[in-house]
Amino acid sequence: MSVDVRDSLTPPEQLPRHVAIIMDGNGRWAQQRSLPRTMGHREGAKAVRRIVQACSERGVTVLTLFAFSTENWRRPPWEVEVLMKLFLATLRNEIRRLDEANVRLRFIGDRSAFSGILQDYTAKAERRTAANTGLILVIAANYGGRWDMAQAGRKLAEEVAAGRLQPGSITADLFHHYTCLSDLPEPDLLIRTGGEQRISNFLLWQMAYTELYFTDRLWPDYDADDLESACAAFASRQRRFGQTADQIARSAHA
Ligand code: IPE
Ligand code: IPE
Ligand code: MG
Repeated sequence: MSVDVRDSLTPPEQLPRHVAIIMDGNGRWAQQRSLPRTMGHREGAKAVRRIVQACSERGVTVLTLFAFSTENWRRPPWEVEVLMKLFLATLRNEIRRLDEANVRLRFIGDRSAFSGILQDYTAKAERRTAANTGLILVIAANYGGRWDMAQAGRKLAEEVAAGRLQPGSITADLFHHYTCLSDLPEPDLLIRTGGEQRISNFLLWQMAYTELYFTDRLWPDYDADDLESACAAFASRQRRFGQTADQIARSAHA
């Protein structure tokens, strides 16, 4: 007898507030079907729609999706071009639906490398959804964890050079304020699809205490039930943040 996963959903208070996803496996999904990699990316865009909707419905606060890394420029030029076109087309197709679903869109990464039209469109999408109060959807595009830390370091150095900041007052807390997403809860759960068990320069600073979850499922196949499995695994873990298991158990009963 099969059990419908929806009969036993993770209780809302045990859900991760911030889910981050490395959406991997589009190319292999296509290769397994003797299709061009492009088709894998197209199917991957459909999975994005499914997972955004599922997170929205479940009441997740923030969903951060890794769409294009600073290293993905190393791919063949035709694939980079396809990804950029798909990025713009998906945004155009989805913006109305996202806005109606009360989703607030945000982009992180160095957008100066993108075409003017993509830069304009991402800014427009952020403005259009700025007042929405539902899911915060963060798209990491031309994003790299090292880039993020370097840009934070650069801004701090500018403050010092301008005489507004003493080097001695640079602490981890202050540095944090200059990194991306510092105004949002840190990622509770990282999901990576596609079977690889690595971070690939995603949110290096922000994931100091994130729970990591790896699945062999390829991104174009990923669905709401897979997300629920990841949430259930998350809910079963004890996060200790450096403390002992006893301390955590005692504070839970306090
Ligand atoms: C993830 O799928 C999409 C991006 C990195 C943009 P891949 O294209 O990396 O798929 P695989 O890893 O080759 O299967
Ligand atoms: C990570 O996937 C980047 C994105 C999902 C955007 P990659 O496929 O680029 O990662 P590596 O190269 O296998 O580490
Ligand atoms: Mg990959």
